[in-house]
Amino acid sequence: MTEESKSTNPASFDRPMSRRDFIDWIIKGGLLTTLAGMLFPALAYLWPVTRRGPAHDMVEVGREDEIHVGGSKKVVLGGTALLVIRTATEFKAFSAVCTHLGCIVFWDSAKQLIACPCHAGFFDLSGRVVSGPPPRPLASHPVNVVDGKIFVKP
Ligand code: FES
Repeated sequence: MTEESKSTNPASFDRPMSRRDFIDWIIKGGLLTTLAGMLFPALAYLWPVTRRGPAHDMVEVGREDEIHVGGSKKVVLGGTALLVIRTATEFKAFSAVCTHLGCIVFWDSAKQLIACPCHAGFFDLSGRVVSGPPPRPLASHPVNVVDGKIFVKP
């Protein structure tokens, strides 16, 4: 560093800090801390509230890219089997327990129906019974996809 650049540098460390400089730094630091303490709550109040993420009662069941369009995945949530299906536009989740006698259903992608292997019960993509002996539709579960993760409400 040349002698010329030392003289133009305002933050020169060549001389020891005087008591007056020390008090100035303390006062400035205190003022900045006070100002930040006043501004932070005001900015936090004005900042738009954005909530990213699923509701608290939803459970992550996998990643979006695990299920191809037209595919499905079986998961167990809270001791109950669920069937997560990916359509061209959304994810759907249903109880995987058939309402007839409790067999585990599967997604028949060729027929685009949820099928029960036990007594040939079929359900559509809304869970409604299409054919066979099941007396009631499959229970559907809310699905939310956030940041590539699939969340289902048990
Ligand atoms: S148990 Fe599913 S159709 Fe009978």
